[in-house]
Amino acid sequence: MTPSSALLDVAGLSIRFGGLAALSDVDLAVGAGEIFALIGPNGAGKTTVFNIVTGLYRPLAGRVRFDGHDLLARAPHAVARLGVARTFQNTEVFRGLSALDNVLIGEHPRLRGSVIAAALGLPKVRQEEAWARARAHTLLARVGLAEAAERDAAGLPLGLQKRLELARALALAPRLLLLDEPAGGLNPTETQELMQLIRSLRDVDQLTILLVEHNMELVMGVSDRVAVLQHGRKLAEGTPAEVSRDPAVVEAYLGGDE
Ligand SMILES: Nc1ncnc2c1ncn2[C@@H]1O[C@H](COP(=O)(O)OP(=O)(O)OP(=O)(O)O)[C@@H](O)[C@H]1O
Ligand SMILES: [Mg+2]
Repeated sequence: MTPSSALLDVAGLSIRFGGLAALSDVDLAVGAGEIFALIGPNGAGKTTVFNIVTGLYRPLAGRVRFDGHDLLARAPHAVARLGVARTFQNTEVFRGLSALDNVLIGEHPRLRGSVIAAALGLPKVRQEEAWARARAHTLLARVGLAEAAERDAAGLPLGLQKRLELARALALAPRLLLLDEPAGGLNPTETQELMQLIRSLRDVDQLTILLVEHNMELVMGVSDRVAVLQHGRKLAEGTPAEVSRDPAVVEAYLGGDE
């Protein structure tokens, strides 16, 4: 993958928090249609990469380009509108809203109707709303939550909340999906199902996926390539097979306490 052909091209990324160099000169190039995993010990800087790519943090140095656009010049909503969606390490569904409404909120940035038009109940807006609801149902079905549409999101078990977050991210109709520990807290069966879903999002929906995950079975099972971060630096990158037999990686991460 040469940087110029990458859908997501991250180069020379560095950021500090006080005295801590959370990322130092990190390069990542994720090609269209790839499932790319970013792994590494706790505190390695994985979520920080996501926070920079999605416009939440400004790096000290480096470049982030998505499909030729400079993401560093953009606010989070603008990054989302370009087609970059994410889920969060700590699952965040909107409490007190149904699963369906949680997905509708995810669609909101794409809807064109103005607030005033909505308040007046203009036909075009009602039509758009009906379209959005139908689409939200489709997305819930896509992640296996068809039966849960009317349930209170916060009352769903963790595994289903994680799927709901995924449906909400898909509501943006993204091209690039950033998943931060999607298998965290899932049991082995749920993890297997998630693996199938991630694969099919790439194979059927043609999404590009950047995955942060500690579950090595999932990482090694779905990823085309894996990059390993340690103390904010890229330690290794390669296919799952290459990375898992790299002595430095085994020492730093795979063979450790994790
Ligand atoms: N907003 C912030 N302010 C200060 N320090 C931060 C901030 N965000 C992250 N850090 C620090 O930067 C380092 C990298 O954090 P990050 O969350 O990216 O790690 P991670 O690889 O995602 O770890 P984990 O696997 O535990 O989620 C950590 O030492 C963390 O405490
Ligand atoms: Mg993290």
